[in-house]
Amino acid sequence: MKIIFIAALFCTLAVKISAATLQIEITPKVAGENLQPASFRYRTSAGETFSVTRVSYLASDFALQRNDGSWLDISNSVAWLDFERNRNSIWLEKIPAGEFCSVRFLVGLNTNLNHADISKFPASHPLNPNLNALHWSWQGGFIFLALEGLWRNSSGELDGWAYHLARDTNATRIMLAAPLIVTNETKLELDFNLATLLNAPQPLSFGKDGSSTHSRNGDPISAALVKNLAGAFSVHRISNLTDAQIAGAHPKPLYLTAKFTPYPFQMRATFTIPDLPRDNPLTVERVALGKTLFFDRQLSINNAQSCADCHSPEKAFTDGRRTARGAEGEFGMRNAMPLFNLAWKKEFFWEGRAKSLREQVLQPIQNPIEMHETLMNVVTKLNGNTILPASPDARQRVPTNDYPALFTAAFGLPEITAEKISLALENYLLTLTSFNAKFDRVLRGEEKFSPEEQRGFELFSTEYDPRRGQFGADCFHCHGGPLFQSQSFANNGSDGTLKDLGREKVTGKASDRGKFAVPSLRNIALTAPYMHDGRLRTLEDVIKHYAIGVVRSATLDPNLAKHPDGGVPLSAADKQALVDFLKTLTDAQFAAEK
Ligand code: HEC
Ligand code: HEC
Repeated sequence: MKIIFIAALFCTLAVKISAATLQIEITPKVAGENLQPASFRYRTSAGETFSVTRVSYLASDFALQRNDGSWLDISNSVAWLDFERNRNSIWLEKIPAGEFCSVRFLVGLNTNLNHADISKFPASHPLNPNLNALHWSWQGGFIFLALEGLWRNSSGELDGWAYHLARDTNATRIMLAAPLIVTNETKLELDFNLATLLNAPQPLSFGKDGSSTHSRNGDPISAALVKNLAGAFSVHRISNLTDAQIAGAHPKPLYLTAKFTPYPFQMRATFTIPDLPRDNPLTVERVALGKTLFFDRQLSINNAQSCADCHSPEKAFTDGRRTARGAEGEFGMRNAMPLFNLAWKKEFFWEGRAKSLREQVLQPIQNPIEMHETLMNVVTKLNGNTILPASPDARQRVPTNDYPALFTAAFGLPEITAEKISLALENYLLTLTSFNAKFDRVLRGEEKFSPEEQRGFELFSTEYDPRRGQFGADCFHCHGGPLFQSQSFANNGSDGTLKDLGREKVTGKASDRGKFAVPSLRNIALTAPYMHDGRLRTLEDVIKHYAIGVVRSATLDPNLAKHPDGGVPLSAADKQALVDFLKTLTDAQFAAEK
């Protein structure tokens, strides 16, 4: 089913906190100390040194026990907790004030929730897979607990470990004595002790037991994790909140005209609901203005380059170049990114330095090696004025667009400002959705994969885990789900010594060195060359990279570090099958329409 929806525009009801609220905060610890991300200070009982880079899990079905022994079930209570993202709390709201003696919850989900229709979860819901990256997508069901890191194997080499606990039967009940007097705002602090989880009562060793699990039936690592989970949580402290909870203010729509036409946003039913900006609702008028701006060369210093010159629709909005070439002929360091399904992203550019599209779009205009124009000059030109002296390589400007009229239709007044330019471009970019590839039609039963494409899909979505007889290519960890990308940053082993620090430039953390946004693989056959610096020319080169070219470094993603040196072993036929599968992700309709 194709979904078209018009976002609810306003929802400005004030949030009132009336009944009692209990905040449960859970902190990952190792032997009483806060977990240090990516630090090699930990040892398994077998003496292996290791680090932890990811602790991400789902907790649900919270309940509080009254002193008379009865339980207060908090309906619909579910939390996604993620160490790296500082998500460490769940707020149980509107619960009756009173005294309780214990708390219980599930690590994982009950069967109903685990198999719920994921396309129905709102964008900020803890179970929205686009948010939590914990869904197995085509395999069905959630990962309840994802633990990942690196370890040093017996030959002293860096290796990855990835323990993913999943499957209905592995949802684990935790129960803790906690003498709580829940008044207006009470906070219960819990510790999640990872030393216990990996050690007691059942010790785990990466070398002996294996460095990865996907919790298939009868898997010994997942059985040990379940056994150890029960003792891994403990009560740290109970207190009353001092800072009042900030009522989530809903932003009001900016410059909304009295009359406007809501723009029908289109996507596929298998996609999750995106979090469209409420203060910049999609309107037909704004999208039209944004599109006109996107194709207008007046946005560049010499009127020689538009956004579309680097983001060409027939190449899924890329430019076919290794790295981008600016209006004045200078080359940048990075490969132009494809522009579609941006509505699901929260951070833009290869290292995620822009927090919104409206912030992003003003950067290429002003970037000295891209369009190199000032926002003031752009506004002057859009108002119909010529800026002198025009540079010698300027193309003849044909003033065909009546911008004051377009701005009036979009924002109510003819006045042109940089902010409105950014809002209109944001509107247009959000409408670029791609969801009609052969892959989608095969899922709907309208077309069939060739045997090679089918084989490629299997390889793509199967782990590489020889101990358990799995010999896939393990791509889905990062490129999984309907968008074929996780909204995260990873080092996929392209470099040992890095010219581009990537994500570290934003976070300042050495543990983010060489990490780049995981790109979508939709339309991948249209967007060569590949990677943040365009180093790989063809899809065959990309598959070769994952088979023999993965370079180990301190930040190599554990999901790749756990593979043999170089990458996943693949036969020539399997490599070709992966390429054939990737080509089924091309959406010809998207390429033609936009
Ligand atoms: C000179 C070529 C060039 C021009 C002109 C250009 N871009 Fe880009 N665009 C790029 C490159 C290169 C990147 C990646 C840059 C980086 O990561 O530092 C990019 C990234 C983006 C992204 C981020 C996508 C994502 O998934 O994070 C968006 C959105 C975008 N451009 C929109 C635009 C808009 C809108 C314009 C016109 C105002 C524009 N670009 C003009 C080359 C260009
Ligand atoms: C650990 C996460 C991870 C895994 C596993 C992974 N990738 Fe990637 N992939 C990335 C990242 C991150 C990039 C971008 C790296 C860069 O720009 O330097 C990328 C880039 C790509 C690109 C180029 C995209 C573009 O727009 O330039 C393709 C194609 C690709 N991966 C395919 C695959 C295939 C096929 C597999 C399985 C064999 C796979 N990936 C496994 C994280 C991963």
